Amino acid sequence: MRMKLGLLTLFCGVIFCLTNCNKQVTTATAALPSSTEIQPGTIESNDFIESLIAKMTVEEKVGQMTQYTGFFDPTGPVPKDGNIKEKYDAVKSGRVGSMLNVKTVKDVRALQKLAVENSRLGIPLIFGFDVIHGHKISAPIPLAESASWDLEAIEKSAANAAKEAAAVGINWTFAPMLDIGRDARWGRVMEGAGEDPYLGSKIGAARVKGFQGDDLSSPSTIAACAKHFAGYGYTEDGRDYNTTDFGTSTLYNVVLPPFKAAVDAGVQTFMNGFNDYNGIPVTGNEFLQRDLLKGQWEFDGFIVSDWGSIGEMVAHGYAEDNKHAAELAINAGSDMDMESYAYQAHLPKLVEDGKAKMELLDDAVRRILLVKQKLGLFDDPYLYCNEEREAEMANNQQIKDDALDIARKSIVLLKNEGNVLPLSKSIKKVAVIGQLAESKNSPLGSWRLGAEDDTAISVLEGLEPILGSNMTYQRGVELYSGVEGFVNELAINTDDRAGIDQAVALAKKSDIVIVVAGEHGYQSGEGRSRSDITLPGLQKEMLMKIKAVNPNIVLVLNNGRPLELSWEDENIPAIVEAWQLGAMAGNAIADVLFGDYNPSGKLPMTFPRSVGQVPAYYGVKSTGRGDAIDLVFWSHYSDISNTPLYPFGYGLSYTTFDYSAPQVTPTASGASVSVTVVNSGKVDGHEVVQLYIRDKAASITRPVKELKGFEKIFLKAGASQTVTFNLGDEELGFFNNDGEYIVEDGAFDVMVGGNCVDTKNDKFTRD
Ligand code: NOJ
Repeated sequence: MRMKLGLLTLFCGVIFCLTNCNKQVTTATAALPSSTEIQPGTIESNDFIESLIAKMTVEEKVGQMTQYTGFFDPTGPVPKDGNIKEKYDAVKSGRVGSMLNVKTVKDVRALQKLAVENSRLGIPLIFGFDVIHGHKISAPIPLAESASWDLEAIEKSAANAAKEAAAVGINWTFAPMLDIGRDARWGRVMEGAGEDPYLGSKIGAARVKGFQGDDLSSPSTIAACAKHFAGYGYTEDGRDYNTTDFGTSTLYNVVLPPFKAAVDAGVQTFMNGFNDYNGIPVTGNEFLQRDLLKGQWEFDGFIVSDWGSIGEMVAHGYAEDNKHAAELAINAGSDMDMESYAYQAHLPKLVEDGKAKMELLDDAVRRILLVKQKLGLFDDPYLYCNEEREAEMANNQQIKDDALDIARKSIVLLKNEGNVLPLSKSIKKVAVIGQLAESKNSPLGSWRLGAEDDTAISVLEGLEPILGSNMTYQRGVELYSGVEGFVNELAINTDDRAGIDQAVALAKKSDIVIVVAGEHGYQSGEGRSRSDITLPGLQKEMLMKIKAVNPNIVLVLNNGRPLELSWEDENIPAIVEAWQLGAMAGNAIADVLFGDYNPSGKLPMTFPRSVGQVPAYYGVKSTGRGDAIDLVFWSHYSDISNTPLYPFGYGLSYTTFDYSAPQVTPTASGASVSVTVVNSGKVDGHEVVQLYIRDKAASITRPVKELKGFEKIFLKAGASQTVTFNLGDEELGFFNNDGEYIVEDGAFDVMVGGNCVDTKNDKFTRD
């Protein structure tokens, strides 16, 4: 019999409550606020802020709600009429409250001075920037870092990025991106934590804590921004900026959990986005922003629009014009307008006409000013402007060491037939092939706006100290030509085969061939979706020719998304997933190839056999015909297996780990699950022990597997460790279609292993 045991109204504090209360928790209330009304009492203000608001004209309030891009590369389409003189004037007259894309102490200081010394009320600007993975010293792209499953290292990486960014005047990052990414075609999967809401929540919270630290007013921490609220990862066809369509159950159980985790971790700001939910652009969505986020979740920070997303509601066919867009956005709860110029142009008139209530403007301004105050900007507007710190952080050794540490942890060993790896350091005649091996730029990945070009250690530079004259390099076929850069589309070579013959000739006379292939760093990221996720250009053709003369190949992949690697998996003995690992890439890769670091990364996203399987993710629902039955009448492809090439959670090591059968002990609210893991190989190593469940029958269909716990352990060769997971209300429940968190009795499968497929299983019944 199915029974509802715990019921909490809408997401309100659910995770927190479930960990801290017993299962008889009763509903924590809250009638839905009516739209376009602020929720009294959710924000703790103070006299200073209130007296400031009392002095402000409507134009000054709108100014605080307006954000301009600065002088560095724009990170979106620039409106025709933006020019620097106008920007200066706007700052001086208090018509702008925030800038993005300003990235040196000199520029920040100059603009801050204009605001503080010229505007009537002297309110400091808040400076936002896309600090996505490291800043000047690029860390691995977020998807790569997520492959480490190492929350401490991820938090430290974000903390280092904050230190670096805060040293150049920035006090607010547009990160972490919390969109669940299940479509490898979507270029922005590189910016998130992968496909899983549980892992995504843990990593998102770690990043928020890293950026913000314990004291936001310290000049080493910056405000974080949970983005894009919500559902941008469901962009149709994986094509960026496309429409999205997902159901209520997916919203509550997949899309929202990382955002709720960010609120619980104290995130100061949110960003909405370019997509729509249920036909309403998220930027103009009252339900998401006002009712859910600011209402039920009691988020007390502010929401910035995405670049131009207020104005884009016109193109969506939701707003009649820019003025109407401003009205919809303010009423829906968007507090700050990034680059639509809609608030600036229209909000004063909308207030005058009674179409936007002054209380809503006050609420938005209050939220923005409170964040500025928490950052310490009212005490010292130049707190983040310190040239000495700027110089010191630019080349900080500790940050480089940490970047190397997490780069090594991010590498995933996909295949190692016959233990080709690790290579011996005394090996002779090594061929290194592939344009990416020489690149000092591509490893920096997309979204590395703070880093200077060509500041990564290339693979060649990483290998050189170990191999010296035993290594010969041939570029082989060109992967790309043209100007690399955030705003440029890379030209991928698809017809010039020059270089292949030389590469093949070198491979023929070598003992081992290291081929570095994959995507350039600028082939993923915003605006960079791909319909074909095989190795781009002519790389695979070259690989096939090399294989024909020398099968001893180690394929080192650089990429910002899962790739289709079926041929490579069948034909290449060793495959190393090295993503775009940032400034220290070459050293990290060398450490893994030669065994100075035993790989421990696990995939945060499924690698499909073919792009036709996309979106490919492990947490699927069971179809009514999921198992191979007779004839053709079951859910399958006729040309390919349903299974992924490399599943979520997968990654090899230079050692092996054996798992005992799980010991399942019933508890008051579920079960505790223990498993003993033995390092059965010859070298020490890390293993990520993963726990999955399946709710066998529920009032809403549940995924066939859901990650509900993981622990990264270190085991010396021959050693063993028992890991225990608790499965209680927090792990066993789910959200129903009214947004209520419920926990139901019944049968659960338990699966434990080193990835989501190779598991030891048991079951229990919760009653
Ligand atoms: C657009 C992107 O979608 C967003 O993530 C980013 O933070 C802004 N541009 C600002 O650069």
